[in-house]
Amino acid sequence: MADLSTEFLGIRSPNPFWLASAPPTDKAYNVIRAFEAGWGGVVWKTLGEDPPVVNVNGPRYSTLLSPDRKVLGFNNIELISDRPLKVNLDEIRQVKRAFPDRAMIVSLMVPCTESSWRNILPQVEDTGADGIELNFGCPHGMSERGMGAAVGQVPEYIQRVTQWCKQYSRLPVIVKLTPNITDVRFPARAAKAGGADAVSLINTINSIMGVDLERMTMHPSTGGLGSHGGYCGPAVKPIALNMVAEIARDPATAGLPISGIGGVSTWRDAAEFIALGCGTVQVCTAAMVHGFRIVQDMCSGLSGFLDAQGYASVQELVGRAVPSVTDWRHLNLNHVDKAVINQDLCISCGRCHVVCEDTSHQAISATKNGQRHFEVKDDECVGCNLCVSVCPVPDCITLRSLQPGEVDARTGRPVSAEVLTWKEHPNNPMRQPAGSPAGSPA
Ligand SMILES: Cc1cc2nc3c(=O)[nH]c(=O)nc-3n(C[C@H](O)[C@H](O)[C@H](O)COP(=O)(O)O)c2cc1C
Ligand code: SF4
Ligand code: SF4
Repeated sequence: MADLSTEFLGIRSPNPFWLASAPPTDKAYNVIRAFEAGWGGVVWKTLGEDPPVVNVNGPRYSTLLSPDRKVLGFNNIELISDRPLKVNLDEIRQVKRAFPDRAMIVSLMVPCTESSWRNILPQVEDTGADGIELNFGCPHGMSERGMGAAVGQVPEYIQRVTQWCKQYSRLPVIVKLTPNITDVRFPARAAKAGGADAVSLINTINSIMGVDLERMTMHPSTGGLGSHGGYCGPAVKPIALNMVAEIARDPATAGLPISGIGGVSTWRDAAEFIALGCGTVQVCTAAMVHGFRIVQDMCSGLSGFLDAQGYASVQELVGRAVPSVTDWRHLNLNHVDKAVINQDLCISCGRCHVVCEDTSHQAISATKNGQRHFEVKDDECVGCNLCVSVCPVPDCITLRSLQPGEVDARTGRPVSAEVLTWKEHPNNPMRQPAGSPAGSPA
């Protein structure tokens, strides 16, 4: 059986599934139950200075639901831990002693002054924790006080605070990044320049969940007034994967260990983050929606996948898909795909026809011999994948790649075996001769 154990920055855990810093890791009661359920590690709910913060006594959480009431997105306006620092530190010490084989990371957020960091770091180290995570990502409440995302949006601050942590603590330092920024490579580079051992991402995304149109108040609100919250859950996974891949393939940060966060709900989500360069994954929303036991499905699913694919360990999967991510300008414009409808599976709902007719390339016919019948017109199809995306029947529509030499019915030309990117394309006024270096702009 494949080895699920991981070693991340020298921190061992029996599997790569860590609970992210959030309500599931708020106190010993939760973390003990999480470890008993099988979680490999936790990032303890973010600690701050005393006196503790105060949360609203109103809706902290809200959701975006699918029509069948599955949680697609999750929003919160919760602050960092609202319990006294000593209570948290004592519990961290107690839990780490009881579960020495699990990863215990402590998330921290204190004011952006050297004395605050110098003061808290030895207290955390004294608990026996394995590492610290710097919360430079919380986008609500704390950022109004100059912490969280307010630090994470300024690379110079990230670098400076990371340097303090490396100076005043021997623990490995993970810098948790905010997605509320234009280009995530800059904060990641700053973290590395400050000496970070790893980055973790993403924290939550600025969001307003909706408007109550009867009361004319944003939703959710605390007695009629609301504030933007942080968005997470399955809906943010694509954003998180992209940011992870950006860091993994940036020459300035390539090889920097990454802990992947954002919408991980299944072993498959986790495997995707790992394939894009993550050494561990962190989970919050899925645990809040389904409870701690989901880790058992995640472990058995990932283990089965590794076995089936011939990987002996999680480590062998790390970064495998990174070379497949590139910039648009390196894509092969000679490649041709066509949609194919499996008539045996088609239920004749007509959705593919409607969307292709109204918004794509009018490439799906709706009748044959006066009967409802849906068929792709190869002489119009550009392989855009819209019909595949909307068809309600799994695998009913697929894309087929034309082979070199095969005639594309749309252009009447045989598909070339040559790779032709925008850089060399005749329509590009700034085209470069074929064979110029892959990274050169055009
Ligand atoms: C209710 C709630 C509270 C959170 N509190 C923290 C926190 O204290 N510190 C932190 O770094 N991230 C916090 N997060 C962010 C999560 O750790 C995580 O980065 C985010 O939810 C994305 O993961 P997910 O899609 O699995 O939920 C919180 C998230 C939620 C939903
Ligand atoms: S792939 Fe795009 S163009 Fe082709 S049939 Fe489907 S929707 Fe139409
Ligand atoms: S969307 Fe799928 S099931 Fe519906 S008509 Fe098209 S191919 Fe058939």
